[in-house]
Amino acid sequence: MERYAIRGGNALEGDVVISGAKNAALGILAAAIMTDEEVVIENVPFVNDTRTLLKAIENIGATVRYIDRHKVAICGAGIKGDEGLAVDDEYIRKIRASYYLIGALLGKYKYANVALPGGCDIGARPIDLHIKGFETLGAEVDIASGGRVEAKATELKGAHIYLDTVSVGATINIMLAATLAEGKTTIENAAKEPHIVDVANFLNTMGANIKGAGTDVIRVRGVARLHGAEYSIIPDQIEAGTFMAMAVATRGNVLIRNVIPKHMEAISSKLVDMGARVIEYDDCIRVMADGALRATQVKTLPYPGFPTDMQAQMAAALCLTDGISMVTESIFENRFRYVSELTRMGARIQLKGNTAFITGMPKLTGASLVASDLRAGAALVIAALAAEGVSSIESINYVKRGYEDFDAKIRALGGDIIITDSDSELEAFKRGMSVVKQKA
Ligand code: EPZ
Repeated sequence: MERYAIRGGNALEGDVVISGAKNAALGILAAAIMTDEEVVIENVPFVNDTRTLLKAIENIGATVRYIDRHKVAICGAGIKGDEGLAVDDEYIRKIRASYYLIGALLGKYKYANVALPGGCDIGARPIDLHIKGFETLGAEVDIASGGRVEAKATELKGAHIYLDTVSVGATINIMLAATLAEGKTTIENAAKEPHIVDVANFLNTMGANIKGAGTDVIRVRGVARLHGAEYSIIPDQIEAGTFMAMAVATRGNVLIRNVIPKHMEAISSKLVDMGARVIEYDDCIRVMADGALRATQVKTLPYPGFPTDMQAQMAAALCLTDGISMVTESIFENRFRYVSELTRMGARIQLKGNTAFITGMPKLTGASLVASDLRAGAALVIAALAAEGVSSIESINYVKRGYEDFDAKIRALGGDIIITDSDSELEAFKRGMSVVKQKA
């Protein structure tokens, strides 16, 4: 079983280049099958979730050409959109974004039969808003036995849809289905995350007519069909935020390249509250920290608020500050599973309801840890890099789902991290083995 071995204590220094946004890529790859013409997509992050979705898309008959590590050409012409179409394989059940295939297939073929989505266990994560949206457009949706969603319609008609809760997934899925519906659809109380805008921009390059993405009212005027296109995905806001928190926790000096500073505002302002220096340039951000840092308060909110996907990483950095920080999670009900692992490193964290009270400590100490989900895994890596001594982190498959070449990027910044699946190598690392010997 692969795990990270990390020797903490190095202040990270240098440049890191951010990859394409995972949560935009997942919506865009699903949308790409909505035309029978070829679509070329660039800056696709090389992470397990995008590879899984591409496999699922191939499994239903689309052709996928892997032009290079970050560029694919997709053609949906080979998909047989009849009632025989079923998206199900062991992979698709693992990723949340499989639900985007419902909106894409329902929009294009007026029929979709997809296994219920999986994804990180950070809360109940129902899809009732997605279903309500599809039904309002005129579809019949059935949660069939065996954990499948079957949606069908003779036609989809534009409608007014109000989302009771701000949902990224429901906003994108309804946008997909409404793109090829008849007439106008209005999505109110829509999510405003950068990836929503990126998916809408991609659909518009294929000939869709979507306005207002990035605001809480999105207007979609249905079109008869979509055409081929070329598109490049935006940088990953959360990967960038993760490296910013890492630079601060290790008291480093890092230039984060290929970012959109506007997307980072909520994260940058919290790091500045802690006493870090954050300097913005056109497409990169320098983050520096040294010495004592201050405690602060963080509450997760939909964009442009502080992203829930940065909550754990921020908590890890706040463990090494002066004072008591409060971290409140308002989006998901089970997103503090990393707390017990940080406590093993000597962190002092008290959980009360959906708030973690973090008493800053002068140091953390390396330990054997287990990741419980994608962002929790990233948080443990940050804590281990800032700690004294050696840590090992298991279940890194979670991290590989959403971070491209995470260990290699950290090593390029001077972090002492390897991936190993052998106990003897871990022991050697603990005894001070250098990291030059590295797995591809
Ligand atoms: C997306 O998940 C992201 N995943 C998550 O990132 C992210 O944490 C989340 O948005 C919030 O920003 C992808 O993009 C693949 P939601 P999603 O629908 O769409 C409730 C990561 O680490 N809700 O915005 O599942 C829901 O329970 C992942 O990259 C309903 O009640 O999130 C939650 O409390 C983890 N009914 C809230 O809305 C619904 O039908 C927000 O969820 C849908 C959602």
